[in-house]
Amino acid sequence: MADQREDSAPAGGGLDDTPLMRELARDHARRRELEGLEFAAPEATRVITVANQKGGVGKTSTTVNVAAALAMGGLDVLVVDVDPQGNASTALGIDHHADVPSMYEVLVESTPMQEVIQPVPEMEGLLCAPATINLSGAEIELVSMVARENRLRGAIRDLLAERESAGLPRLDYVLVDCPPSLGLLTVNALVAAREVLIPIQAEYYALEGLTLLLNNIELLRQHLNPELVVSSILLTMYDARTRLAAQVAQDVRDHFPEQTFSTTIPRSVRISEAPSYGQTVLTYDPGSSGALAYRAAAHELTIRPAP
Ligand SMILES: Nc1ncnc2c1ncn2[C@@H]1O[C@H](COP(=O)(O)OP(=O)(O)OP(=O)(O)O)[C@@H](O)[C@H]1O
Ligand SMILES: [Mg+2]
Repeated sequence: MADQREDSAPAGGGLDDTPLMRELARDHARRRELEGLEFAAPEATRVITVANQKGGVGKTSTTVNVAAALAMGGLDVLVVDVDPQGNASTALGIDHHADVPSMYEVLVESTPMQEVIQPVPEMEGLLCAPATINLSGAEIELVSMVARENRLRGAIRDLLAERESAGLPRLDYVLVDCPPSLGLLTVNALVAAREVLIPIQAEYYALEGLTLLLNNIELLRQHLNPELVVSSILLTMYDARTRLAAQVAQDVRDHFPEQTFSTTIPRSVRISEAPSYGQTVLTYDPGSSGALAYRAAAHELTIRPAP
């Protein structure tokens, strides 16, 4: 991979021009900019599905860390985990062994979401509707059900109405974490949302598979959810030292100038370590580049106009 590295001491440049120095300067600026910042609440609840059928691109990391950053910004946020792997539930420190009432019961047995939602420990304003391994069967069980694509949409709509009549705070953001497939669980998530956030890993094959995802979204729009828009694209695992990452980022920006966040998420060991402590990177290491980047991305989400 050494051939992908840019020369770290560019000709004619001083130390200030090295990627490391730029990174430090950016983190410093972010820390000051984000300190104590309260995020503006949207006019209505924004339901955003985080999807990409490609595995390991940062869907779950993006869901939980953006959600935690929004909650830290003073907003009320719900993470809905519809991935049988339950990685988002794990990262949020939520119990999700097979007996825990979960999105499986919501989708297959019509249990109200309010009954499965758990508060995220030590994170005010953040809630999670967990996934259990049972969900892996839901993909098949849903096939024969009435309005099988609309189960999650109905559940979220009922939840919002129920919270309102119970006098509970209105949810500002609902973020749905998807499995790496385009099966019925992902379809449910895309029918339930108004917006899609696509995390893209800044690597060579990044754009491969994106066409398939966009075609599927277009089909869903025509048949099941005319309001759906790809509102956000976030570059993840971005290594500023490689030319390749910069090229991929430029490619993505050329194709999706409106949607691509100016914030990129750096490759960071802290981001990958946090889940094993049942934490988001925001509590695990709040001062790290990864935590600051996710807070900057969440801030960008709140100031970009909702579709
Ligand atoms: N910015 C990052 N820097 C370093 N490691 C990261 C970063 N983002 C995610 N990872 C790690 O990469 C792996 C994949 O990330 P993640 O689970 O968020 O992707 P995913 O798209 O949800 O995966 P899946 O398709 O399996 O659901 C995880 O081990 C995660 O900890
Ligand atoms: Mg995941």
